[in-house]
Amino acid sequence: MKILIINGPNLNLLGEREPHIYGTKTLADIEQDTSTKLNNQSLTLEWFQSNLEGEIVNKIQEAHKNGTQGIVLNPAGYAHTSVAIHDALKILKIPVIEVHLSQVYQREAFRHNLLTAKACTAIMSGLGTDTYYLAICAILNIKGN
Ligand code: DQA
Repeated sequence: MKILIINGPNLNLLGEREPHIYGTKTLADIEQDTSTKLNNQSLTLEWFQSNLEGEIVNKIQEAHKNGTQGIVLNPAGYAHTSVAIHDALKILKIPVIEVHLSQVYQREAFRHNLLTAKACTAIMSGLGTDTYYLAICAILNIKGN
């Protein structure tokens, strides 16, 4: 099964970015940990990170055409603002799990509006770096694997 993991702006700086909120692991560490945890599953994971909204829209449209069977999406700051990512997600017929490392409802009020989540199958927020592994498990569960 082919699963795409999309990370939005500033998540390329995980490890050095506000570690008291996001932890000390880099995105590369998280990718490695997730693959290790999924050891026995025959999955193809594609990890994509961009700081640009349009590139994320293009990646979602690409996933629509290339046989991707599930998406884990951390839109980062775009979660709260992006109509374009929301609209791109509406085209999909596959499970999309929106994830946030932090518990956004315990943070500033401007993070409480999750716009892109309205177009997602489910949301996970506050589970830290394990959230990518847990969201992939959720996709496998939805798909009956
Ligand atoms: C985040 C939460 C967002 O509010 C923030 O803009 C991020 C990261 C998270 O993973 O907790 O960049 O998506």
